[in-house]
Amino acid sequence: MDAERDTDRLARASLAAGDPTGWFERLYAEAERGTAEVPWDRPAATPLLSAWAAETRVSGAGRRALVVGCGLGRDAEFVAGLGFATTAFDISETAVRGARARHPHSLVRYVVADLLDPPASWPARFDLVVESNNVQALPRALRQRAIASVGTLVAPGGTLLVLAAKADRPGDDGPPWPLTRAEVESFARDGLDTASIDEFPAPDDPLSMRWRAVFTAR
Ligand SMILES: C[S@@+](CC[C@H](N)C(=O)[O-])C[C@H]1O[C@@H](n2cnc3c(N)ncnc32)[C@H](O)[C@@H]1O
Repeated sequence: MDAERDTDRLARASLAAGDPTGWFERLYAEAERGTAEVPWDRPAATPLLSAWAAETRVSGAGRRALVVGCGLGRDAEFVAGLGFATTAFDISETAVRGARARHPHSLVRYVVADLLDPPASWPARFDLVVESNNVQALPRALRQRAIASVGTLVAPGGTLLVLAAKADRPGDDGPPWPLTRAEVESFARDGLDTASIDEFPAPDDPLSMRWRAVFTAR
């Protein structure tokens, strides 16, 4: 099986049908049946997330975290391990069911929800919001809406961590559609201030770069 080919096949059909998010559910469902692979289903937490946590020595005691586009729960479990009362959501029901099954003793609350239409109780609720590789998986036409939605979820005084592939200029050939610096900077809106925007070589491809950006909410 070739995970990139599976993603390409399902994403192209979905995008051609005017359904930019439908392919995620189809990919997870095929993976559950053993006929496709999920390329981002890796055994360990996202390296830039775990490195950030180690550097900042962040502690989640008494605080709430939200993991956007959690897939099968790898990063959500890591965040819960930092002590945060963690909610994690994905648009794919199969992914959320898979995350619960994979982590049967988890403290994470896994929820099916759409970033583009999040539950009414979520705005300004979370002390840490982790956005890793989800905005870049949505077509550019949805980008500013997705970025704005992520930002609304951060509580006053809270932190937004954004991890994404880097593009030097906007391109149309995706998914993914990596983020330009201007797009990363545009997370700083509606009460969010930029704390840092850094670039690191991708662990699996040192010739390409990844963003790690941190925003704080007033
Ligand atoms: C490229 S994967 C990244 C997964 C994970 N965050 C990571 O870094 O490995 C994008 C994830 O976002 C989910 N997703 C896509 N659109 C979404 C939306 N509108 N709301 C919630 N989740 C979404 C997909 O189902 C998928 O699990």
